Amino acid sequence: MLVENNVALQALNTFGIAARAQRFARLRSEADLADLMASAEWCVPSPTAPVFVLGGGSNLVITGDIKALVLKVDIPGKRLVEESPKGWLVEAGAGESWHAFVAWTLAQGWPGLENMALIPGSVGASPVQNIGAYGVELQDRFHSLDAIDLQTGKAFTLDAAQCGFGYRDSVFKHTPSDQRSFGLAGRALITRVRFLLPKPWKPVLGYLDLERKMAETGIHAPDAQQIFDWVVAIRRAKLPDPAVIGNAGSFFKNPTVTPDQCADIIAREPKVVHYPMADGSIKLAAGWLIDACGWKGKSVGNAAVYEKQALVLVNRGGPAHPCTGGEVMTLAKAIQTSVYERFGIRLEPEPVVV
Ligand code: EPU
Repeated sequence: MLVENNVALQALNTFGIAARAQRFARLRSEADLADLMASAEWCVPSPTAPVFVLGGGSNLVITGDIKALVLKVDIPGKRLVEESPKGWLVEAGAGESWHAFVAWTLAQGWPGLENMALIPGSVGASPVQNIGAYGVELQDRFHSLDAIDLQTGKAFTLDAAQCGFGYRDSVFKHTPSDQRSFGLAGRALITRVRFLLPKPWKPVLGYLDLERKMAETGIHAPDAQQIFDWVVAIRRAKLPDPAVIGNAGSFFKNPTVTPDQCADIIAREPKVVHYPMADGSIKLAAGWLIDACGWKGKSVGNAAVYEKQALVLVNRGGPAHPCTGGEVMTLAKAIQTSVYERFGIRLEPEPVVV
């Protein structure tokens, strides 16, 4: 049977929230999806028969049992498509673990993804929110992806422009009814992703935490493996390991403001952490804003603000007494209200809420 009923999702989301999928199918290949779509168990996705595509579950808050048909994408595979003077074109199945894939590319001698080491989740989910860390975003290394249209069953390929990447954003986070005219949320299932790791390799070292590592170690020309090791160490020091403390990474996006708005905030709060962007806007550190409002360690039920990084909400109850998605969202709303009242800034959540 392709579709299972009443499947527990606690081990399939990194928050460790206990919820169930009324209907659930695990896809190990494109053929599994074709078989499912040809079967009597399939309904073309619609508002009354929605489909929810689940990757690594690392950017997700589940607020109750999921009524949509959950498609868990487990498509494996990693390969070099071609090597050219431009770089290494590498492909991975959507079900591969992102971090294992990054480590594998480095072991093969193909650098380029090292700044994005240790990001939880799957390769297939990586373009959905255009993951990024320590000065590199997925869109900087992305080549193309294969996907299947869940309405027609047809396979298609998208390049970077067609994915509509933005900061923690892509066409896969939007429905056609959103302001953007073209949205693929609930419509496309990503099967394979290709990355172009450019030659010659150039280290990306402009991020403050990496500059600190260079100063501490005296290594000023690190290789890609060294950067990978530093990023792993930095993340382990400030971000909770979801295998130990449930979480979904940064809970809010870093907001951008105009230079005038920023000057206004600096006049009141001189220490606000801010970075000028290439387009003239200014990005503020959401973690600093939340921290300044005194949220570190605060909780609602078993959902809490991580003590070492105020931008991360965690499950304090562990697997036995997990927080609920409702507790997470109540805490998130209280944080949004207090940041808005003090700074006049609306924080936007990063994870998908279902
Ligand atoms: N800060 C505080 N207090 C806090 C948290 C942060 O004062 O509780 C300050 C820090 O001292 C620092 C600044 O805020 O000056 C920014 O913090 P950090 O360097 O840790 O990065 P971030 O902006 O919080 C972003 C990404 C992370 C990514 C890191 C490194 C977003 C929403 N988050 O975090 O991505 O790993 O930079 O590049 O863009 C994720 O998206 O899930 C994620 C973890």
